[in-house]
Amino acid sequence: MLCAIFQLLFLFGIHAPVKAVALKCEYLSNPIGIDAPNPRLTWQLSDDKQGAKQTVYQITVGTDSLAVSNGQGIAWQTDKVNSSTNLIAYAGKALQPYTKYFWSISLWDKDGKKIAAPTIASFETGLMGIKNWKGYWISDDHDINTKPASYFRKTFETGKKIVSARAYIAAAGLYELYINGKKVGDHRLDPMYTRFDRRNLYVSYDVTADLQTGKNAIGVILGNGWYNFQSVGVWDFERAPWRNRPAFCLDLHVTYDDGSVETITSDKSWKTSFGPIIYNSIYTGEQYDARLEQPGWDTANFDDTKWNGIANRQAPSLNIVSQAMQPIRNVEKIICKSMSKINDTTYIFDMGRNIAGVSQITLNGDSGTIVRLTHAERLYKNGYPDQSNVDYFLSTPTRKSDPFSTDIYKLSGKGQETFMPRFNYKGFQYVEVTSNKPISLTKESLVAYFMHSDVEPTGSISSSSELINKLWAASNASYLSNLFGYPTDCPQREKNGWTGDAHIASETGLYNFDGITIYEKWMADHRDEQQPNGVLPSIIPTDGWGYEWGNGPDWTSTIAIIPWNVYLFYGDPKLLSDCYGNIQRYVNHINELYPTGLTTWGLGDWAPVKSKTPVELTSSAYYYVDVNILAKAAKILGKAGDYAKYSTLATKIKDAINAKYLNPKTGIYAEGHQTEQSVPLCWGIVPDSLKAQAAAHLADSVAANNFHLDVGILGAKAILNALSENGQAQTAYRLASQDTYPSWGWWIVNGATTLYENWNINAPRDLSLNHIMFGEIDAWLYKALGGIKPDETQPGFKNILLSPNFVTGLDHFEATHTGPYGKIISSWKRVGKGINYAVTVPANSTASIVFPTNDGKKVYANGKELSIQNNYQLQAGSYEFEIK
Ligand code: BGC
Repeated sequence: MLCAIFQLLFLFGIHAPVKAVALKCEYLSNPIGIDAPNPRLTWQLSDDKQGAKQTVYQITVGTDSLAVSNGQGIAWQTDKVNSSTNLIAYAGKALQPYTKYFWSISLWDKDGKKIAAPTIASFETGLMGIKNWKGYWISDDHDINTKPASYFRKTFETGKKIVSARAYIAAAGLYELYINGKKVGDHRLDPMYTRFDRRNLYVSYDVTADLQTGKNAIGVILGNGWYNFQSVGVWDFERAPWRNRPAFCLDLHVTYDDGSVETITSDKSWKTSFGPIIYNSIYTGEQYDARLEQPGWDTANFDDTKWNGIANRQAPSLNIVSQAMQPIRNVEKIICKSMSKINDTTYIFDMGRNIAGVSQITLNGDSGTIVRLTHAERLYKNGYPDQSNVDYFLSTPTRKSDPFSTDIYKLSGKGQETFMPRFNYKGFQYVEVTSNKPISLTKESLVAYFMHSDVEPTGSISSSSELINKLWAASNASYLSNLFGYPTDCPQREKNGWTGDAHIASETGLYNFDGITIYEKWMADHRDEQQPNGVLPSIIPTDGWGYEWGNGPDWTSTIAIIPWNVYLFYGDPKLLSDCYGNIQRYVNHINELYPTGLTTWGLGDWAPVKSKTPVELTSSAYYYVDVNILAKAAKILGKAGDYAKYSTLATKIKDAINAKYLNPKTGIYAEGHQTEQSVPLCWGIVPDSLKAQAAAHLADSVAANNFHLDVGILGAKAILNALSENGQAQTAYRLASQDTYPSWGWWIVNGATTLYENWNINAPRDLSLNHIMFGEIDAWLYKALGGIKPDETQPGFKNILLSPNFVTGLDHFEATHTGPYGKIISSWKRVGKGINYAVTVPANSTASIVFPTNDGKKVYANGKELSIQNNYQLQAGSYEFEIK
């Protein structure tokens, strides 16, 4: 609505107010619990005037909001800095723990005029180091095989008036925190999964409003999560080296109106008891006996004389850091699309789309009635849930007591009751509800929640093709279904942090969502898992599985590719710098093992259609990518010696690949299959002089295959880009919009709302219906059709590269991406025989456009022909062009 008003004002020559907006600290809005000693501050200039930019900035940081808004900061006050940067790391006096800082940014515009009032925001520090914890790590004294989850409680009394209160809670396992009968916050599955014996996360909450003068109660429920994995599967998580009964540590800081501060902590004064959660597994499901509920367990006047004392425990690691990232939430409520009643003990709910998350049931029934909720992605022909595409990694002997993707609920019989699991999620579209006694359910009895890391959307695609629009939505749904504080392969069968899937999907993620905090956390997981010799496991985090299988450079190149992509999209070199030594160790290790420059280490083009590509070709290509990124990172970080060394190594690898696989007369690699041609083209391995020939061969072989895919996941990452970056965008589009087997569109026309693991929708196995590993097509829509690309010489979309392709088959196409400077729009539509192309370049950034005019068309702006059509430079603002 606001947007529409501003657009209207714009038409009348009235501009939206000019100001600094989107102030963030560590990429979060007004966060609490910041541990970074030099947190990064970022902002945007909102100014829709043509050529708008920031020429000078000044930052003020202090603890008094009024003083800060008047431009006085006791912590940090920069000079007026002549710069257009919008990212700066705090460099004032040492930040103090548990302290709220306000910061303001004053900006001067392109004419050197100060922009009205400074904008003010805040960040609050957390514990800033393990030495500041006051509480003990506590648990119950049950063993790791004990099934019920434990509840913990403590009461405390205060006569003073509370002015502010913060709860800091670290847990090994999962927790939910309650104060005075209410759950604190809306996070789900906190804290995020890490390698628990190396790094633990704590979460900070403002609980001022939850406490009261007088008596208070704090409650904690602990779940197993990945810490105390009780299901038995093929990855050995039940034998994880960190495994133990869940534990937590809590500090509650209460500040009173007389200025005094009291810290209530986890210690021997707490009490514990089992409750209604009789089993919980992050992998399979939750079992809940409502008859065991203890109403009021988290309130002050509850009688806990029957509760037990707690046990002190060692901390799981000595590295306890703030979880400064977007939490997992129940982001979207999904209403059931249809329900079929088989009989009065069996009902099947269809949620209408495939998601990751949980279902929630509301019902009445006799006390002790047992209800099973079985989740599945598809149904058998007879209408019953079919889990056979995803359930086969769970051990058979334990299935009876620990069924796959199934919650079991026992009714209390006290009227209407509602159940939703706390410590589990699943991947599903259908829920079968069965009961051991008749129950009466309606379509409204069950809803679902789409859960994922709650990252803000930053991109959109809309076009005249329904298939393309659905493909974009399906890949975003799969991307989010696989984002739970770390990227996963699938939300049902594995929930593993498969490295290969994640680097393949990272551009799709970064075009569509503001996910830097998740990637930075996951790269810290990488650093925790790397062997001293540089080797990384294929799944991260891991209990040790994956150091010997699947962890060649085609998968574990995450260590280089993700920091590089984050650098391109955010213009922030911190992650590259944090991972620099790790990339170097990784690359050096491969160099030692494979001194020729060619490596056979890897899985190769996983899940192919028919043709097989030599593993050596694809793995050596990824090795080249890593070394190339390392060389570029060395240059960015001012390491001249490394830059020279790794540039030379990169050239050696490239030459070795070309010497063995490229026919220099024809431009054909190996047998010339789709993946064989695409991977060298996409990753910059093909000599310039042969690019056109190599791409033409690729386009011909695609045409010979009747515009169908013949690739696995590495080929699917490369093929569309290999074509569109080398003059074959039309062929790329025909592949991307294909709707018969094998193609992305084939899934969609068969009803997919997410992306699959296998091109063949009837494959007997390896057919999860929610994998993101074929998801590059989504990023490609932005890159090739919208033509929005980051410029590595001015990353973070400081300069935007725009090179749209007006492909036949589409009448209109629009891509938008909100980068660090604001919203970029690239939108085109056919008008008669020509194209109208509209572009928005956000304030304080620029763009270089390459118009697709190789068909002899000319470009006009305001009716006048443009003389330059290649690298046409634009200042900030909105523009329209005609190409005819
Ligand atoms: C996973 C993949 C993964 C692959 C590696 C599968 O089980 O689901 O997505 O990349 O294994 O081999």
